[in-house]
Amino acid sequence: MKVFVAGATGVLGRELVPQLVARGHEVVGMTRTPSKEELVRGMGARPVVADALDRDAVARAVESAEPEVIVHQLTALSGELSLRDARRPDRSAAAAMTNRLRTEGTDHLLAAGRAAGARRFVAQSFAAFRYSRAGGPVLTEEDPFDPDPPAVLRTMQAGYVYLERAVTTIDWGEGLALRYGGFYGPGTSISRAPDAQMAAPIRKRRFPIIGSGGGVWSHVHVADAAAATAVAVERGEPGIYNVVDDEPATVREWLPALAGALGAAPPRRIPRWLGRLAAGEAATLMMTEVKGASNAKARRELGWEPRYASWRQGIVHGLG
Ligand SMILES: NC(=O)c1ccc[n+]([C@@H]2O[C@H](COP(=O)([O-])OP(=O)(O)OC[C@H]3O[C@@H](n4cnc5c(N)ncnc54)[C@H](OP(=O)(O)O)[C@@H]3O)[C@@H](O)[C@H]2O)c1
Repeated sequence: MKVFVAGATGVLGRELVPQLVARGHEVVGMTRTPSKEELVRGMGARPVVADALDRDAVARAVESAEPEVIVHQLTALSGELSLRDARRPDRSAAAAMTNRLRTEGTDHLLAAGRAAGARRFVAQSFAAFRYSRAGGPVLTEEDPFDPDPPAVLRTMQAGYVYLERAVTTIDWGEGLALRYGGFYGPGTSISRAPDAQMAAPIRKRRFPIIGSGGGVWSHVHVADAAAATAVAVERGEPGIYNVVDDEPATVREWLPALAGALGAAPPRRIPRWLGRLAAGEAATLMMTEVKGASNAKARRELGWEPRYASWRQGIVHGLG
């Protein structure tokens, strides 16, 4: 099939494009950056340069590709994650830009897809830190969101909700939104790269467990997230799918294990009040109260099977 990937050069895009090409698809990869055209070519795709916030440029790029399927992997999140950043992501330029990519960027791609006669649209969403903190510990796509998230998460939630609604209600094709878990693996914030945004402070013991460490996180290896996306390009009913591994786990379980896999000393523990002071309310809730997500629907309806069914194997063999 002809597949148009917006965000072809991103962490997820760099895993996805080669997988799509290997599955026999003809891929056009969009970047905003002319110097990255060669990267797209190197993955076996045809590059096209356009700014996702420029409606006309997106329309021209999509029209030139005549795609059957459009994949939306646009974010400005790379390099964004640290506990300190989590204190005020609403003030962060990266978070604001990511929200624009999830709202305006989505609208532009949908309009272009409709005009170009595409029949399927697959978009990146996010599962972690969104579900209701009541109930759980592992929630499905049908479960409600946190009705009262801390202010800093509210804006991000609004961006995801907008994107998911826009994509899954198109009447000219099939729209799927994939709620990824927290990425780990090459290029992500959890990798063996010296500057990996989350792994680096863990190595320096600057990423403590706050309070009980009872917050439940759902992870997914970036190659597995890409594999689910490649499957969603080809099949699956319209709708929302959690794309996470089989083992949501509490912070007090996975963080020491990850530190061990990175060769670091066990994380420090700090009380909740100190966590609130140092890292803010949102990070404290992420460490203590959030719930995980179930991948049962993606496994059942997409027939997707993650290579790393648990982060336990992934952090040993898949950090790059
Ligand atoms: N996904 C999440 O929800 C999430 C949450 C927390 C942390 N993270 C971390 O953040 C990183 C995210 O990876 P990712 O693959 O989602 O994003 P990414 O690596 O930042 O890639 C973003 C892609 O979007 C493109 N892009 C951004 N703005 C654009 C614009 N205005 N016009 C056209 N293209 C534009 C970039 O293109 P060019 O650069 O080529 O122009 C790039 O291809 C990972 O390290 C992950 O661990 C992700």
